[in-house]
Amino acid sequence: MLSLEDVRVSYGGVQAVRGVSMKVEPGQVVGLVGANGAGKTSVLNAISSLVPRTGRVSFEGKDFTRSSTAEIVRHGVIQVAQGRQLFPDMTVLENLELGAFLQPPQQVKGGIEKMFVQFPVLKERAAQQAGTLSGGEQQMLAMARALMGRPRVLLVDEPCLGLSPKMVSVLGNVIRQINAEGISVLVVEQNTAFVFGLAHYAYVIENGSVVLEGEPAQLQRDDRVRSAYLGI
Ligand SMILES: Nc1ncnc2c1ncn2[C@@H]1O[C@H](COP(=O)(O)OP(=O)(O)OP(=O)(O)O)[C@@H](O)[C@H]1O
Ligand SMILES: [Mg+2]
Repeated sequence: MLSLEDVRVSYGGVQAVRGVSMKVEPGQVVGLVGANGAGKTSVLNAISSLVPRTGRVSFEGKDFTRSSTAEIVRHGVIQVAQGRQLFPDMTVLENLELGAFLQPPQQVKGGIEKMFVQFPVLKERAAQQAGTLSGGEQQMLAMARALMGRPRVLLVDEPCLGLSPKMVSVLGNVIRQINAEGISVLVVEQNTAFVFGLAHYAYVIENGSVVLEGEPAQLQRDDRVRSAYLGI
């Protein structure tokens, strides 16, 4: 469905992504795990064309390599950025409305109703400024805002960052629920255990290169993964 072939990203002299190839199949949750600075965000930004990249990115057979970010979003590949990137002075409702800026106006109201059912806390806080929400609530809003754009593939960058274990487990259920509705998810995380508990398939990235890939059950048995990523 979504395919990367030999994708490379450089910032000046720094090569952040060094020839990454990966796939997200329809209906899958795919994980990309790695330490600080491994190149995870750069991979997502390469998919969304937010950074200059070489190699090939394609989605449902369409070549995205030369597509703009706006075109990619229109095709249903939507990113939830690291750090949530909400509009903090705007209300929860206004953030959701902005997520639907490409949708036909008559569908916005129904979309918001659906988000309020899926995330009841956002309904309670609809009139509140987004910047006043807790970290967990902000992550919910960032995901809901992306869902307002009706993604086919949701790219989620470090959703667990700074959240309590309880909120991390809530978030896991949110991602499962999104996937159960037929949306594929590519989740990027330092929290390897979280990803392994969710994903159908996972990639491990180190210094801009994929060093291991497989089903979580198989990766969990790998001694390198156990010591470097799971601390066991
Ligand atoms: N705009 C930029 N300019 C220069 N170097 C950058 C830029 N963005 C990222 N880098 C560098 O590229 C490398 C990969 O960064 P990236 O943000 O993709 O990693 P990451 O795995 O998402 O890290 P983190 O877990 O901290 O979010 C790092 O060495 C980083 O310092
Ligand atoms: Mg990052």
